[in-house]
Amino acid sequence: MLNSLRSFRKSLRYATQGLWKASKVQTHLTEEEKWQLATLAERKGGVVVEVGSYVGASACFIAAGLSRSTNARNAKLYCVDTWKNDAMTEGARDTFSDFMTNTQKFSHLIQTMRGRSSEVASQFHQDIDILFLDGDHSYEAVKADWYAWSPFLKENSIAIFHDFGWATGVKTVIEEEVKKVAREEHIMPNMYWAVMEGSKQQSCQC
Ligand SMILES: C[S@@+](CC[C@H](N)C(=O)[O-])C[C@H]1O[C@@H](n2cnc3c(N)ncnc32)[C@H](O)[C@@H]1O
Repeated sequence: MLNSLRSFRKSLRYATQGLWKASKVQTHLTEEEKWQLATLAERKGGVVVEVGSYVGASACFIAAGLSRSTNARNAKLYCVDTWKNDAMTEGARDTFSDFMTNTQKFSHLIQTMRGRSSEVASQFHQDIDILFLDGDHSYEAVKADWYAWSPFLKENSIAIFHDFGWATGVKTVIEEEVKKVAREEHIMPNMYWAVMEGSKQQSCQC
């Protein structure tokens, strides 16, 4: 009885926020992480860059949050991915059409930037309010992502890392690089996010 009530409340929350279909999209994010992404996007608003969008689950929750932010008309979510399933255990496949179908409802807020993260960053020219890194989790790749994207972070912006709980690469880059410029840190079991002092990163020496 209690379980059915909980499940009903969960479904109701998704439905009332227009995220019922998004809640069914394949992802490794937990419910708590999905809602945390939506909450941060709603509170912060502005320009969000997501590195690693896969088939769109996290993008839908971020976009839903942005759509409720003050000044939502100027909000934008840039989704960066090769959409070739790079570094994914399930193997190579083209995930772009799945992404487009799953995120259709939020297409007015989303701009796709297809390519390798560091190459896309070299063409990017905007200040970022929220950076969500969820691409390749190897140490070298996370470090390259951080050096490529952190120079765009505004003062008091938010940097979010998924798979902090198990991916050594993610953990090490946070310890070595992110903590130096973090004003405030929040640790969930498998997601880490920090409020940034400002962009203090130089180009990578790696
Ligand atoms: C874990 S999935 C992202 C999951 C997504 N954030 C979600 O929760 O719905 C990682 C994605 O990163 C992409 N990726 C891996 N390395 C990349 C790179 N160097 N540049 C761009 N995308 C990359 C993969 O193609 C894959 O779609």
